[in-house]
Amino acid sequence: MLEAIPNNVNLSDDPKLQRALLRWQPQFKEWWLDMGPDGFQKDEIYLRTAVSVEPGGWAHWDTVKLPDYRFGIFLAGPRKLEEIYFGDNIGRKLWTQVPGEFRKELRRLIVTQGDTEPASVEQQRQLGKTAPSLIDLRALFQVNAEEARHLWAMVYLLHSHFGSDGRAEAEELLQRRSGHPDHPRILQAFNKPIRDWLAFFCFTTFTDRDGKFQLASLAESSFDPLARTTNFMLTEEAFHMATGEKGVGRVIERTAQLMRAGTDPAAVGAIPLGVIQKYINEWSSATFDLFGAEDSSNAATFFAAGLKGRFQEGSDKRYADHVALEGAYEAEVYEGGHWTRKEIPKRRAMNAYLLDAYEDECRRVVGKWNKVLERYDIGETLTLPSLRFNRKVGIYSDQPYDAHGQPITRAALDAEIERLLPNPDDYALVERCMVPVYAPGKVANWIAPPDKGVGGKPADFAYVRFH
Ligand SMILES: [Fe+2]
Ligand SMILES: [Fe+2]
Repeated sequence: MLEAIPNNVNLSDDPKLQRALLRWQPQFKEWWLDMGPDGFQKDEIYLRTAVSVEPGGWAHWDTVKLPDYRFGIFLAGPRKLEEIYFGDNIGRKLWTQVPGEFRKELRRLIVTQGDTEPASVEQQRQLGKTAPSLIDLRALFQVNAEEARHLWAMVYLLHSHFGSDGRAEAEELLQRRSGHPDHPRILQAFNKPIRDWLAFFCFTTFTDRDGKFQLASLAESSFDPLARTTNFMLTEEAFHMATGEKGVGRVIERTAQLMRAGTDPAAVGAIPLGVIQKYINEWSSATFDLFGAEDSSNAATFFAAGLKGRFQEGSDKRYADHVALEGAYEAEVYEGGHWTRKEIPKRRAMNAYLLDAYEDECRRVVGKWNKVLERYDIGETLTLPSLRFNRKVGIYSDQPYDAHGQPITRAALDAEIERLLPNPDDYALVERCMVPVYAPGKVANWIAPPDKGVGGKPADFAYVRFH
């Protein structure tokens, strides 16, 4: 008989926990039906399901219907180290239980991460209706199912380590709704609508990548169950980012082909390069704010306590000093009419370090997209806006800056925003491109075909079979 909840955490040895999760499961199923993909409930979809954490076990391919997808609880194997390796508690044993003094902080970290998972499913729930191909439709459902599994991962931690408060938080994770006026999701970028597939590909490139960096810093946690849970989630996150990066790359490729042939993309139901740039500006700058304030006492507490490390904290090559009490992070801000150097004590600057690592990776991604443009030799490039552009949070939020990071007036910023972010006409143009293409091997006119299939199947495989 199939287990009610697939897991590698010996759930059957803990009847109390198992009962609590089985009580939550029907509420989850209701949420998945109500707020997961709209439609497509009877269709058969070629999906990957995690069935274990062994190599190969995390990617079991099969044809399933969305309501029957099996969401499991999986922790990566034990870490090589048994001791805490950063912050104030270096050398002590890793925690297998929540330390009482950090209970509140840990719960907050887990709830904030957990809230983003169902939020993105809600943001994406209408997109199936306009998928540019079956392989893309499949990818959307794969991302949705895995984000829902990530919710399970966080809910497992809440149920197993936080008693009745944890159970209450788990219920609330199913009650908040992306964009809801009274019960919104916790973080702003997860309340923004994802209107179309270009937004989906930008979201999975930029916002799922924030997810990667947050998970990576939690994967360093001294609270071992959190580290092992998030470590396993990272394998799935890599697929989400690849979906976005390749998706935007294919949109760029199609646009470049048309431009090269002297055709105006807008005239043939494809997307002009300028509009692609605006979407990049929109989703990257909205994501910068997700990292939180560059100067943050919470970040200092999380690091000192060993709850959340820097990106790849465990690597001694990357960091010689895992205490971070000496030295400062330096940033240039424009204040009172001139540039000033701002020094933030290292521990308080943990969000800034993480954001910098994120920015490096985003620049590499945009660089790859520019290689596509180079191949078509059309003499244009795409850029990532400055970390200072259009910020609502942190040290760059008081003084407005342009996309190059230069100070401007508030009025000039408004004009820049008008010029640099998508306006209603741009959204309408992209919306007109969004016509569903559901024939195997065919793709919409605004995007190049994928270079290959997935899950051992060819590109023209019927990844979704409609009923
Ligand atoms: Fe996720
Ligand atoms: Fe993701």
